[in-house]
Amino acid sequence: MASNTNASIEVVDHPLVQHKLTMVRDRNTGAADFRQLLREISHLLAYEVCRDLDTEAVEIETPLEVSTGPKLQGRKICLVSILRAGNGLLDGMLDLIPAARVGHIGLYRDPDTKVPVEYYLKLPDHLDERQCIVVDPMLATGGSAIAAVHRMKQAGAKRIKFVCVVAAPEGVEAFTKAHPDVPVVTAAIDRELDDHFYIRPGLGDAGDRMYGTK
Ligand code: PRP
Ligand code: URA
Repeated sequence: MASNTNASIEVVDHPLVQHKLTMVRDRNTGAADFRQLLREISHLLAYEVCRDLDTEAVEIETPLEVSTGPKLQGRKICLVSILRAGNGLLDGMLDLIPAARVGHIGLYRDPDTKVPVEYYLKLPDHLDERQCIVVDPMLATGGSAIAAVHRMKQAGAKRIKFVCVVAAPEGVEAFTKAHPDVPVVTAAIDRELDDHFYIRPGLGDAGDRMYGTK
């Protein structure tokens, strides 16, 4: 894999993440457990991706004295889910940042060409003032994530990060070439894409496994 020198890729190799990822990959994991595991993984990935979020000092009263502490400006954070499978990470992120604004970008890969087709777009306003975090469990060819981030930049977003669970080397290469300013956080970079543009070893079709549509 060639590297785009300005791009930032973080693989979260924490044993808790890797344990849950192994269970997610297992074909015997059913839809309910698959969704629950994705939610738990998203909590752990959120911990990494939110590391440098802005906070402001607020005054509070402990039972013993007045003190100050850092507080997130939740409304300044915008989570964007690439439908459908992005919702598997979105829910867990919202557990931790309930005040975040939420956008949705509906994209599906054309079954023949694998080129992403947009069918839905709803983004919060004032994206230029928000830290945006785009979520989708899978970065395969990179086409969907590239198109989603492109849409967000068109809408004014300036600070964007991308979070996935499994990435293919080809997708990482394409994404960081298209958007070298957008850091990527992932639980794994797998071996390769196969002839049908599925990630190997991967976890199969994330959307279908989440919702039992195949
Ligand atoms: C999957 C996945 C990503 C995309 C990744 O979505 O959730 O959005 O494929 O592939 P790419 O990197 O080659 O674009 P899919 O198109 O299967 O739609 P779905 O989430 O509705 O199932
Ligand atoms: N989308 C998925 O859900 N899985 C893959 O392996 C590739 C694209």
